[in-house]
Formats: sequence, C-alpha cells, structure tokens
Amino acid sequence: MIMPTIETYVSALDLNHIRSQFPSLAQTVNGHPAVFFDGPGGTQVPQRVIDAISSYFSRDNANSGGNYPTSRRTDAVIAEARAAMADLLHCAADEVVFGLNMTSLTFAISRSIGRELGPGDEILVTRLDHDANVSPWLAMAEDRGVTVRWAEIHDEDCTLDMADFASKINSKTKLVAVGYASNAVGTINPVKEIVRLAHAAGALAYIDAVHYAPHGLIDVAALDCDFLVCSTYKFFGPHMGVLFGKREHLKRLRPYKVRPLTDAIPFRWEHGTLNHECIAGITACVEYISDIGRQTLSEKRVPHPEPALSAVEGRFSLGGSNETQQASRRAAIEAAYAAIHEHERGLLRRMMTGLREIPGVKIYGITDPAHFDERCPTLAIRIAGHTPLELATKLGERGFFTWDGNYYALNLTEHFDVEKSGGFLRIGLVHYNTAEEVDRFLAALREIVGLANSD
Ligand SMILES: Cc1ncc(COP(=O)(O)O)c(C=O)c1O
Repeated sequence: MIMPTIETYVSALDLNHIRSQFPSLAQTVNGHPAVFFDGPGGTQVPQRVIDAISSYFSRDNANSGGNYPTSRRTDAVIAEARAAMADLLHCAADEVVFGLNMTSLTFAISRSIGRELGPGDEILVTRLDHDANVSPWLAMAEDRGVTVRWAEIHDEDCTLDMADFASKINSKTKLVAVGYASNAVGTINPVKEIVRLAHAAGALAYIDAVHYAPHGLIDVAALDCDFLVCSTYKFFGPHMGVLFGKREHLKRLRPYKVRPLTDAIPFRWEHGTLNHECIAGITACVEYISDIGRQTLSEKRVPHPEPALSAVEGRFSLGGSNETQQASRRAAIEAAYAAIHEHERGLLRRMMTGLREIPGVKIYGITDPAHFDERCPTLAIRIAGHTPLELATKLGERGFFTWDGNYYALNLTEHFDVEKSGGFLRIGLVHYNTAEEVDRFLAALREIVGLANSD
C-alpha cells in the first residue's frame, strides 16, 4: 500500500528499548497511535526525567545555599546537573549557566554585552535564525545606537550565504549571533568557520544551538565560540534553558543582578531562585543520552569515538563527578550522537523520498541527499492547494503531530512571502521516531491531499 520506492530500514538504534522509556509515546488519538513529529517545538521525556523531577520534590525540595540537609542536597542536585551539561557541551562546569529558557538567557546576555557597545559598533544577525537570536540583539542595538547588519541566505536551499556573511564582518563588528541549525528548514550552519571569521575581526560569537542539540554533538571547546545556548526541553529534558559562556566573558561582563547575589561565576548570571526540580531532570536527560551511547558502544553499533578531552584539560573543576567519570560520559555522549545521526539520516532519506512523490509539494531547504550532513531531519513544506493549518489539523486528527506557521523563524517566512498564507508545515523527526511512523505519515498525507496510496 505504501510507495514502492521505500527501502527496508535497519536502525542504528535499539528503538524498542528507546521507545519503551518514553511513556507519552504510547498515547493514541481517535484510535490512531500518536506520532510525535513535533520535536522542534519540544521533545518527549523518558521516565527517568519524570522520576528525577518527582523525586526532587519528595526528597530534596528546598532553596539553595542553606545549612541543613535538603538545602545541601539541592546544591548537590544543581552541581550534578552542571557537571552533566558540561559533559554534554564539552566545557567546564563553571561555564554552565541555568535559566528559564534560551530566550530569557539571550535577553540577559544581550543587555550586558550592550553595556559595552555604542554608536559606531556593529552586530551581525541572520535571516535564517529563530527570532530569539534576533530580537534580543535588535532591542539592544536600538537602546545603544548600534548598527545591525543582516546575513542573507541562498533561496534555493536555505543555506547561509557565507560570502555575504563574510562581507558584512569588519573591524566595527562586535558580535555575530548565529544559529547552529535552523528550527524551520533544518540547515546546519558552518559554525566553526563563523566563529573563526568573528574572532578574526575581534567580534564575539553567540551561537543558538537550541535546534541542533537533539540531533548533533556539541563541542564548544572545538568550536571556540564565546557563548552557546540551548534548551533542555528540545533534547528530552525539562523546560529550561542553558547557556555556555567562556569563563573570561562570564567574569568580565557585568550582569544585571541583585546585590546580595555572589559575584562568582556562574552564579552571578543566575537570577533569583532556579527551577530546582527541572534541574534535577537535566541530569537525568543527559544520562538518558549517555546511556544510548553506552549501549551502542557495548554493542559496537558505532565505532568508539576518541574522547576529545585534551582541548579542555584541567577545566573540569566544579561539580559532582571526577575527571575519569566525566571523560567516559563524554565518550558515551559522542557515541550516542553518532548513532542518533545515523538513525535520523535514514528517516530523513525515507521522508524526503516519499514527500517528493507528492505532486505540488515544495520542500524548503536542502533536498540533495549528498548534502544531508548539512541539515537536520526537520522539514518545512507547502503543498499547493492546501494551507499548512489545514494539513496540520487533518494530520493531528489522525494522530500525527506537526506544526504550522512560522515557529518564530519570522525572517524566513517573510523572506519567502509565506507569512500571510500560513507559513510552512513543519515535520520534525527525532531519534525516537521510526521508519514505520514515516511510512504511515506519508500514507496519511497522500490521503489528505487526495492521492490514492496503492498503485
Ligand atoms: C532555534 C531556536 N532558538 C531559540 C528558541 C527559543 O528557545 P526557548 O523556548 O528556550 O526560549 C527556539 C524555540 O523553539 C528555537 O527553536
């Protein structure tokens, strides 16, 4: 019944084991199994994250910094999560800042960076980015009289125009704000090269890795970026934001803060009481990812990656586990992302093949399989004669969760002049999705647009 071009699929992951850990994946809608293709808006969480949050409340609940057991345990919970995120991002624990979400962290950092800027200075943002990595910088620039420059994209595949990008960096540029990957069309940007260009001009590089984090390994030491932000709810954790900042910047820049708050990093950047229960869930979510790697390493599903610790030797100073444990967790994280990448590539190929067989479909972004390593498995499409809203609604009734609209990638929907006609339909694949879900989705979509599924 499904399109004949689709090949048999063998996953790099043990999907039964993976899916059994996510209670929400067992839901049904109108008798149909729920299919979560809404990962770019937020992923589902494994049971261990739910347990960690709940057990924080039943065992450790207190404010931090007190001299009694639950408060000390709360401090330990926060330190463990910081160490876990340091392993995930490949930095030191005191370079990890927790916050409400990526947007509020970015507004806070942009205001502090703005304190040092003024007329004559320039910043560079892109047309590809989520607005959370644009508007905070526009607001700061307006307040401080700073000039904003925009990097354009190649329309045919939604990649950044790097010649244009490079031409807009000069000695006046003080900051470049760039996404690691587009939450709308999936493009992965050449971040290492972008950081190099920024540094060559004496500018800071602020990287939004929110969309990239569930799909690819992040290594801030190798990237050499000044700041990198992500949100744990996009990679199987709770609703929180996390910021990496190089020590030198976290120490030198002046945060807007209350006077009693310590000036020590990273705490001086953490305003008010944190969401301790969610922070407990962060350790669990990093451990979930690490366990995928441990399993693939033990089954030798992927080659054992070299733990790349030399670049940051001696930087792991704050937090719970010792260096050997951290090195092995980092190696597990690297292995996990290698397996996740391979599985997601297979799903992307399958989805792309099926979508291209639907008459009237327009896929925005990279469609050439030879360049699939330059994109995430996040697809923005339109189908002639159907609005994204209509498609998302009809798919939703059949149990397929997709998104319609601009998902805050506003410059992109405006650029392609689809903002007023409903934006794009976004299909977001993550590692807990299966080939069978992709096949059922394609069959449902064909039915919705009036195509027969059998030849
Ligand atoms: C690429 C990207 N950047 C930033 C954000 C904003 O993240 P948060 O909700 O944590 O503020 C999102 C959220 O969808 C996103 O996809």
